Amino acid sequence: MSLSKPIVNPAIKFTQIFINNEWVNSVSGKTFPTINPTTGKKICDIQEGDKADVDNAVLAAKAAFKVGSPWRSMDAYDRGRLLNKLADLIERDVVYIASLETLDNGKPFKDSMGTDMNLVMETIRHYAGWADKLCGKTIPVRGNFFCYTKHEPIGACGQIIPWNFPLLMMAWKIGPALACGNTVVLKPAEQTPLTALYVCSLIKEAGFPSGVVNVVPGYGPTAGAAITSHPDIRKVAFTGSAEVGKIVMVGAAESNLKPVTLELGGKSPVIVCKDADLDEVVELAHNAIFFNMGQVCTAGSRTFVHEDVYDEFVKRATARAKSRKVGSPWDDATESGPQVSEEQFDKILELIESGKKEGAKLECGGARLGNEGYFIQPTVFSNVTDNMRIAKEEIFGPVQQIIKFKDIEEVIERANDTTYGLAAACFTKDLDSALAISSRFEAGTVWVNCFNVFKMNAPFGGFKMSGIGRELGEYGLHAYTEVKNVIVKTPYKLP
Ligand code: NAI
Ligand code: MG
Repeated sequence: MSLSKPIVNPAIKFTQIFINNEWVNSVSGKTFPTINPTTGKKICDIQEGDKADVDNAVLAAKAAFKVGSPWRSMDAYDRGRLLNKLADLIERDVVYIASLETLDNGKPFKDSMGTDMNLVMETIRHYAGWADKLCGKTIPVRGNFFCYTKHEPIGACGQIIPWNFPLLMMAWKIGPALACGNTVVLKPAEQTPLTALYVCSLIKEAGFPSGVVNVVPGYGPTAGAAITSHPDIRKVAFTGSAEVGKIVMVGAAESNLKPVTLELGGKSPVIVCKDADLDEVVELAHNAIFFNMGQVCTAGSRTFVHEDVYDEFVKRATARAKSRKVGSPWDDATESGPQVSEEQFDKILELIESGKKEGAKLECGGARLGNEGYFIQPTVFSNVTDNMRIAKEEIFGPVQQIIKFKDIEEVIERANDTTYGLAAACFTKDLDSALAISSRFEAGTVWVNCFNVFKMNAPFGGFKMSGIGRELGEYGLHAYTEVKNVIVKTPYKLP
């Protein structure tokens, strides 16, 4: 919980493309609007990057990566110092940045400040510490050879991020890339470009050499596609929908086979066993789905509840959803703000309609809230069955599906019966059940008696169609280094 007051009308300072530590207009002269989801009105116009701008950004990123450049000549320790400096500057301006995030994204200010910005700074500082700890190995090969490995940066990395945690996703991407000594061309989501652009000014202020970080705001099929298919981008990292994840892989394959890491969506199961403490679990399962207006890749969007406690759970979950405070993201009491965009708002309402049509029981919500901005009432469906669209598709909205189960074996199969595998949770007091369930879940993250616990030093990523690769912690470094094996002939056997 924040003690600081938000800046309700933060001044917009940066709306251009950031290349070579300079602000430039788009080559095409085009701009696009970024919208305040709380009102549905335009905040400002942003320079719209496209292929030509991505080309310029890549030239800058390549030049910054050249051997002998200030960045390549820098000691690893000093790369770490720059990252720490960046985190310090974010901390200095954190109230302004969190306010900008709330303006552009609609998330409650206390979440921007508390959840997002804290993890932004922790992530950057965590990776600052890694910069001078990227050690290779010496390997005792047969023969008269000295064999060692080095973990080298890959080069110019493309990074495409979504709108649900705008600055946090930037931190997850640039942290490991820069710690390892790469350069970056990043595209923020078109819905939420403002905080990434502001942080560019801090990257410059911190003293990063020009061209190390370049940020090109713009749309996916234009600027995004130019990044994924660029022949001189050596690696691409993407967070967003599974649908676009496939397009990114094709673009990477058809251009230069650049390695791809993907963090895609999910349909994460939450299993509530009959021995779980309902008071506690109702609240945790509620936040598992309603946090960030349901716009979380790990959202607990399939709540499986044991039949013995099902009716009671539905009753309490419904009461809790009805009491959720939805309103102005600037108010300290607000738990949920608007959805990010009209497109998402429409998608969610359409899926809610499908739930009603397919026979789920609407316990509460189910419609728009108010008549300004993209607010949706917290919605609870009971009597949901596995084949309904609301039980299969990622809704990315404030809609809880409560599904009944009888026995553990059966529910694990059902929980895993999805193309996704990002996260999964179980609630039980029984250690044997907890261990059995967590070992059987097909998911990159398993939470036991908790949910949405993210730590900058613990790996995050998906099984199956939820993604490829891991972010955060030591695991997150692998995607940003090439391993070079060096074999040196020696005149004698090394002891
Ligand atoms: P999206 O996948 O279209 O957007 C994510 C990023 O990819 C944005 O920066 C976008 O500009 C870019 N992009 C779009 N098309 C591209 C292309 N052809 N080539 C390269 N980059 C491209 O997601 P969108 O449309 O905003 O949301 C659709 C659904 O995706 C949501 O309802 C949700 O289910 C899911 N989603 C999942 C996220 C996650 O955290 N895993 C984040 C955002 C959306
Ligand atoms: Mg899209």
